[in-house]
Amino acid sequence: MTVVLAIETSCDETAVAIVRNGTEVLANVVSSQIDIHAEFGGVVPEVASRAHLEMLEPVLTKALDDAGMTGTDIDAVAATHGPGLIGALLVGVSEAKALALAWDVPYVGVNHMEGHLFATFLEQPDLEPPLVVLLVSGGHTLIVHLEALGRYRILGSTIDDAAGEAFDKVARYLDLGYPGGPVIDRLATEGDPTAIKFPRGLLTKGNVGDFDFSFSGLKTAVINYVRKHPEATDADLAASFQEAVVDVLVTKAMRAADHVAAKGVCLGGGVAANSRLRERFAEEAAERGIDCLVPARAFCTDNAAMIAAAATWRLANDGPTGLDDGATPNLALPTV
Ligand code: KG4
Ligand code: ZN
Repeated sequence: MTVVLAIETSCDETAVAIVRNGTEVLANVVSSQIDIHAEFGGVVPEVASRAHLEMLEPVLTKALDDAGMTGTDIDAVAATHGPGLIGALLVGVSEAKALALAWDVPYVGVNHMEGHLFATFLEQPDLEPPLVVLLVSGGHTLIVHLEALGRYRILGSTIDDAAGEAFDKVARYLDLGYPGGPVIDRLATEGDPTAIKFPRGLLTKGNVGDFDFSFSGLKTAVINYVRKHPEATDADLAASFQEAVVDVLVTKAMRAADHVAAKGVCLGGGVAANSRLRERFAEEAAERGIDCLVPARAFCTDNAAMIAAAATWRLANDGPTGLDDGATPNLALPTV
């Protein structure tokens, strides 16, 4: 039995979770800084680091309380050590190392994207590889071929904006607030997804990067459309934009699943909280008769339970991370 306490502070959520054996979530506390950053229209790195410093102790105390545990019950302490904002990452990494020293247990540095990938296994640990995982967040858009746990090949990624970034930028342009994903998701339910035919970037089969994405042209198309058609409603714009993003994400992920003869497909990352994406993803997987795992929304957006799940696997397979390990803002997903 391994009880891992994990800390996630890579961006704008201060999160601590306690997970037993990589799947049993005993505590999952997330404190969001959205209200603090909203007035600036995006995450301000320096403000994020200060807020993490302020919130980490109370979040940690709550997680231990929720699990009914003290330091003596914890077998390892983990933290996200990249990718993310350097100042924000260092708050979590420093705290995790200090706790590991104080409690005399191993420290594990976790890749944030591997965390998003493990969110799927929190709920369905027996999911059988090979799998195709679509990881869509504010900073990344990846199609990952998971040959086995810890064995990843990146089949495709974005050549410009990440999917979440596109949601955030379009929402910002339309003055809908930050973060853009949840607002557009909500507004889209009132609009017509076929009202405006926005471009589907790099969708044509036969393109060189068959599994790569491009969202910056779509963002420009929305801006140009609004300039020409000021009468367009936010709801129709949101629904049509979202449909274009979802169309490309789902089509490419399923194409990748066919390509590697995957037994199943999974979703991960903040954009995986999107209602339309979840719906289309599940429909298309069902059509193919393959497994489909769409994690609960709370495990899609940033949280520390997914970091604990990844840490449990890494600790068992690679051992602890040295206390001289720091934080790496542009850390890549480890691939084979
Ligand atoms: O994974 P995440 O919480 O943080 C990063 O690692 O980046 O992802 C945040 C991103 C933001 O761009 C946000 O707008 C997007 O996820 N997001 C959504 C939804 N909820 C969050 N995008 C579309 N629909 C949603 N419901
Ligand atoms: Zn994330």
